[in-house]
Amino acid sequence: MGSGVIRAPSVSRFGTKVMSAGASTPPESVMSGARKIVVLGAGNVGGTLAQRLAESDLAEEVVLIDIIEGLPQGKALDIQESAPILGFSTRVSGSTSLDALAGADIVVETAGLARKPGMSRSDLLTKNAEILRGHALAVRKHAPEAIVLIVTNPVDVMTFWFREVSGLPPGRVFGESGTLDTARFRTFVAQALHVAPRDVTGFVLGTHGDTMVPLLSLTSVSGVPLTQLLKADQLAAIVERTKKGGGEIVELLKMGSAFYAPSAAQAELVRAVVLDERRLVPVTAHLEGEFGLKGLCIGVPAILGRSGIVRVVPVDLSPSERTAFDASAQAVRADLAVLAALPRAA
Ligand code: LAC
Repeated sequence: MGSGVIRAPSVSRFGTKVMSAGASTPPESVMSGARKIVVLGAGNVGGTLAQRLAESDLAEEVVLIDIIEGLPQGKALDIQESAPILGFSTRVSGSTSLDALAGADIVVETAGLARKPGMSRSDLLTKNAEILRGHALAVRKHAPEAIVLIVTNPVDVMTFWFREVSGLPPGRVFGESGTLDTARFRTFVAQALHVAPRDVTGFVLGTHGDTMVPLLSLTSVSGVPLTQLLKADQLAAIVERTKKGGGEIVELLKMGSAFYAPSAAQAELVRAVVLDERRLVPVTAHLEGEFGLKGLCIGVPAILGRSGIVRVVPVDLSPSERTAFDASAQAVRADLAVLAALPRAA
């Protein structure tokens, strides 16, 4: 767009066009954008995501929703007051009411508890499933056409649960995880090789947890296979660090978990939907036979565009990658079994 070519306005799925205020974009160029993006949960992840979305002028309106009175309103106003300096046009507001979901084109679910001392994984799962049930029913009521990105952990299970309770088509509910895990993997590879992080591409599949599967065969630096650039022991160390990437941040922060890289990954996925980019990215998707699995959501390569998941892209796995992927699927199924006893209705 910097070449001065003005793109013809295209009618977006969201039925609107947004003028970009980005410094690198000529003001006369027209981007299709979303009318309204709602971020559920105004914690560190939700707040930082709202900031990133507003600053990139992807929507006319970004709304933060949280149950803590004042938190979403305060963060929204703070972000809004940066607009004159940064030059974005997005209107940012906050609310404690799920009614503010009305008419959302995209919803990002970041609400939920993080594990505290003494809490089991199942405790977390049950509590977050209760929170997400209310949100899924509210999305069905107020924003039935929305595309929903799930961030709440355990993300693979919560994606499945939200889809089931909301009744939305499977392609319209997907989860962030692989994009974040892959960003960590790419970072560590770039540091080891002293190359630009963006030149490292790759895929981390499977669940967002200890059993995630970094696919070394699909990782390269500008097309040069990683196996030609790093020794096996270096690669093994990077894989291990990636698997524990979220925990490494938790240990350093001592309170709370990561939010800068997670919100960057979420913003990238939202952008792919809003601009119909058809990015091939690792996301948590509903499988209906792909990879020989069905009836669960798990991290796989998928093409993401305006309709959500356009299609899952099956890739060949080596025997050891297949074993690791199956173990990952088993871990997700064990968590899904915990949900079986929970009510779906309000
Ligand atoms: C992480 C957690 C928050 O990986 O999912 O940082």
